[in-house]
Amino acid sequence: MRVLILGGDGYLGWPTAMSFAANGHDVFAVDNYLRRNLARETCSEPLFDTPNLPKRTEIFRAVSGKGIDSAIGDCSDHEFLSRIVRDFSPEAVVHYAEQPSAPYSMRGHREARLTLENNVLATFNLIHVVLEHSPECHIIKLGTMGEYGTPNIDIEEGWLEVTHKGRKQKFLYPRQAGSLYHTTKILDTDLLWFYVRTFGLRVTDLMQGPVYGISTPECDCDEKLLPNFHYDDIFGTVLNRFVTQAVAGVPLTMYGKGGQTRGYLNLKDTLQCVELAAGNPPARGELRILNQFTEQFSVSQLAQQVTRVGASLGYEVQLQSIANPRKEAEDHYYNAQHSELLKLGLRPHLLTDEVLADMITKVGRYSAKIDKSIIMPRVRWS
Ligand SMILES: NC(=O)c1ccc[n+]([C@@H]2O[C@H](COP(=O)([O-])OP(=O)(O)OC[C@H]3O[C@@H](n4cnc5c(N)ncnc54)[C@H](O)[C@@H]3O)[C@@H](O)[C@H]2O)c1
Repeated sequence: MRVLILGGDGYLGWPTAMSFAANGHDVFAVDNYLRRNLARETCSEPLFDTPNLPKRTEIFRAVSGKGIDSAIGDCSDHEFLSRIVRDFSPEAVVHYAEQPSAPYSMRGHREARLTLENNVLATFNLIHVVLEHSPECHIIKLGTMGEYGTPNIDIEEGWLEVTHKGRKQKFLYPRQAGSLYHTTKILDTDLLWFYVRTFGLRVTDLMQGPVYGISTPECDCDEKLLPNFHYDDIFGTVLNRFVTQAVAGVPLTMYGKGGQTRGYLNLKDTLQCVELAAGNPPARGELRILNQFTEQFSVSQLAQQVTRVGASLGYEVQLQSIANPRKEAEDHYYNAQHSELLKLGLRPHLLTDEVLADMITKVGRYSAKIDKSIIMPRVRWS
């Protein structure tokens, strides 16, 4: 399959590109280094440096014998994206190319505007260039479980059958985001749904939970093939942050009561899910929405597991509740369905103590590089 990865230099994009290439697909990765630039601008550098995208592809070729083509450019630039899709003619596009940080999007007007323009325009351009050059192509779009918010009813996979005054209709499941970033993901879904039902696009929208991990079969081949790993308050996801805090001897920063519950998944399972989606495309004119996570945890459950496993490895881990910089429920009902990817064949890598110990050990190798000044929250919602 010819697979185009937008955002192919990112935390998820780079391991995805390698995994598709390792499995024999033709891969083309595109990125404009937005994440690298924003990390530098906000003093949120990752735990270790990673080579730039063309260098990464060279190293991967030397290690695996497999090629990945790449181009540096902006998906919100219609002409650029149009050229790439016309020339490569992908059968599937995995769209990761967005500004993914909720705190960054809440920092101020400039950051909110960048997030809104970048995310919505990249999706909008992708829709148009696919319609123009590759209308059969399967768009696999990364959404987030955060689109649903934390409703007081079960979260379904994308859709809700509503009975109103004796009549029935299936609607997109109600969405209520907790940040401007998550709101842009809702706007993406609305755009995709409009173009699917009007122009017959073929789309999978993956509602993904927070991802953790640093290890995939390809990343493990060479240190220079590791994904970018953020542990700061702006770009780090919660478990990656807790693991780094445990290694650094900094108390784990649990926001408020720690009852915030979400669905999580291992980086290895992101790759599996995306590849399962690509291998099982929906029909034209279908918007398939899949909830992409494997286990639900509250923040306090994650903190307790990191404390226990960290202690077993000789780290003195402390847990500290700090004032919540976000506006969110800290104690709430949460029950999200996630059976469709399992039906497609997903075999989850669960968060066992062994998996967590391996992650702590790997991060521990870089303990000297941890900058403790970028751990506490620097952005407040209000
Ligand atoms: N990491 C998670 O836990 C998680 C959870 C749910 C959803 N997601 C979604 O998955 C996707 C990837 O997330 P990630 O963690 O890998 O983030 P990331 O920032 O590491 O990767 C995104 C990549 O896209 C690039 N990019 C952004 N805008 C671009 C543009 N206009 N043109 C070209 N390249 C552009 C960035 O430079 C970056 O390399 C995002 O859409 C994010 O919203 C991530």
